[in-house]
Amino acid sequence: MDHFNYKDGVLCAEDVPLTLIAQEVGTPVFVYSTATLTRHFRVFQEALSWTPDHLICYAVKANSNIAVLKLLGDLGAGMDVVSIGEYARARTAGVPGDRIVFSGVGKTRDEMRLALEGGIRQFNVESEPELLALSEVAVSIERVAPIALRVNPDVDAKTHEKIATGKSENKFGIPIARAREVYAQAATLPGIEIVGVDMHIGSQLTDLDPYRQAYGKMADLTRALRSDGHDIRRLDLGGGLGIPYRRDNNAPPLPIEYGQVIRETVGDLGCEIEIEPGRNIAGNAGVLLSTVIYRKHGEGRDFLILDAAMNDLIRPAMYGAHHDIVPVMEHAPGTERSSFDVVGPVCETGDTFAKGVELPGMAEGELVAFRSAGAYGAVMSSEYNTRPLVPEVLVDRDRFAVIRPRPSLDEMLTREALPDWF
Ligand code: LLP
Repeated sequence: MDHFNYKDGVLCAEDVPLTLIAQEVGTPVFVYSTATLTRHFRVFQEALSWTPDHLICYAVKANSNIAVLKLLGDLGAGMDVVSIGEYARARTAGVPGDRIVFSGVGKTRDEMRLALEGGIRQFNVESEPELLALSEVAVSIERVAPIALRVNPDVDAKTHEKIATGKSENKFGIPIARAREVYAQAATLPGIEIVGVDMHIGSQLTDLDPYRQAYGKMADLTRALRSDGHDIRRLDLGGGLGIPYRRDNNAPPLPIEYGQVIRETVGDLGCEIEIEPGRNIAGNAGVLLSTVIYRKHGEGRDFLILDAAMNDLIRPAMYGAHHDIVPVMEHAPGTERSSFDVVGPVCETGDTFAKGVELPGMAEGELVAFRSAGAYGAVMSSEYNTRPLVPEVLVDRDRFAVIRPRPSLDEMLTREALPDWF
């Protein structure tokens, strides 16, 4: 459930008509709903309410705006970060280091040092070389790095190949068959303290079975590691639970059902449970608002050319992803609908959001919204074609604020410098 609904014929974010935001901030613009972000976070809290010992570490990569992080942090969220940049955002949003886990296959020594100095809950370590580097860094600054090893369970997450991470051919984690050996090595290293086990098998999972398999393997591994003498007290189960991108009856499982799978598979181990949801919290809490620039007659098809493009929302071009595209002004039932290929102004055929979309009306200047754009939208945007980074707005009931302004052309151009020999 989200808080983007039509009221008096206009699509609103909570109580704010999107027409008002378009007027005041311009388009394209991402708009997020406080109530939806809050609700989604609470749904995960409920899903894990069977154990008081849990931390929901929001995956910052999904939407890393500092206002969004502060909102979630203030609700009690921890954070899962994958770079020192994300770590800095989380800290700037007021999240304490002991609620931040550091994931990612390629942490640099500098990143390790800064996180250790700043305070960190745990590093999710993905390889032996990384383990050795972390040990060296920790020793050099006289700190101890709490770690979980990310284990690759070789489970098919049955999702898009670009976002599946739990198969042995993927670059992620330590093969489960070698996990005991690497834990034994970790236990001998100075500056390293083993606290748990970590897994993340992929994103946009629409089936609970892969989770059941992976977490079952994690439970077996935990027992084996304990019998080897390791104090495994924390399980990081990753993120990845999918969201409905289409408003039909094929919705992915609910967080509450996911929470039950966790309980059934690892609930009896007495470990603290961490999860890292990103998309499920932010995805349906945001829309991308855009204006129709032209309606163009093509050969056998009509194009709707928007002021949003692939640089603003790259998911359709990158993953063939679907986002519902809806008019902001509600049209009377029975209004004639036409079929459009919805495209942006970028000079690539790949800058196509969707083909054959049935939309009513659609004149130049009309507003449309891409639903489910709160996760992996703004964070993946770029300035390709020298288009300004798309701004972000946060709505809270009947008020809204710009939480990332659109840069001016001047700001964009003055960031660059000519070599002094020119
Ligand atoms: N934890 C780790 C270690 C991850 O790598 C990810 C996502 C998450 C948690 C959060 O997964 P989520 O709950 O959001 O599914 N850009 C792609 C998605 C990439 C996901 C990468 N890792 C997209 O737009 O679909």
